[in-house]
Amino acid sequence: MRSDFSKLWPPFGLRLSCGPIELSAIRDSDLLELVDAAADIHPDSLRPFPENWAGLPADARAATLARKYWAQRSSFSPNDWQLSLVVRLDGQIVGVQGAEAKAFPALRTPDTYSWLARGVQGRGVGTLMRQIICSFLFDELGATAVTSGAYDDNPASIAVSKKVGYVPNGRRLELRDGVAAAHTKFILHPSNFVRPPLPVEIHGADQFRAYLGLQMCDPGAAPQPAETCVDDAR
Ligand SMILES: CC(C)(COP(=O)(O)OP(=O)(O)OC[C@H]1O[C@@H](n2cnc3c(N)ncnc32)[C@H](O)[C@@H]1OP(=O)(O)O)[C@@H](O)C(=O)NCCC(=O)NCCS
Repeated sequence: MRSDFSKLWPPFGLRLSCGPIELSAIRDSDLLELVDAAADIHPDSLRPFPENWAGLPADARAATLARKYWAQRSSFSPNDWQLSLVVRLDGQIVGVQGAEAKAFPALRTPDTYSWLARGVQGRGVGTLMRQIICSFLFDELGATAVTSGAYDDNPASIAVSKKVGYVPNGRRLELRDGVAAAHTKFILHPSNFVRPPLPVEIHGADQFRAYLGLQMCDPGAAPQPAETCVDDAR
């Protein structure tokens, strides 16, 4: 019997780590610990998300999160994907670091998103997990830029973006719980990227690239659509 779930869904083979933090695709076996971590993300006075899912009663919050992450798996395609990675700090699940992209093979500009249990916020974890995913997006997927966004009253998220090298890229109103709120987009180019202080170890990138239809044609160069790679070995 097959035991390797990454053959069914290649993101399951991804493992990104740096220092005490490891990121991997959310498995069903992670979900109960993950919804526990989501029990306390922010005070009611801070509304960091477009919908207040973190403020729902416990059972509704858990069911909403599970549905969201299951849907991301089943709807994943090279042209429209959301990759939510569970964050482990010293082996314990503490949150999610994600990236999503539309038309990635052409635009190469994913957008990052994240949340952490309140108990571990303010200790540098949010910065390190963002640096890890940006390392993966630039180095392994050939992203040309990475974007993010935050409501203007979310200083921690804005501080993380700036620490990692993102710069403001437009301010406008966005809906938040159905009401307009000031929101700023940020963009990070490779030349501004503040890398983490320790090396990032990445497993499963080849399989993930193949799932996106990309391939490393030349060592050290950005991955290209697999069909455009010329085989010089003929
Ligand atoms: C955003 C989030 C992921 C950041 O993770 P974190 O571990 O708290 O972030 P870090 O500890 O790496 O860095 C936080 C930075 O924000 C700064 N910060 C935090 N609160 C701040 C405030 N009220 N004013 C100004 N800066 C603030 C910290 O000083 C720190 O910067 P420093 O290291 O230069 O001092 C986390 O706070 C979180 O999950 N928040 C709730 C959900 C959320 O906002 N998600 C993002 C949606 S856009």
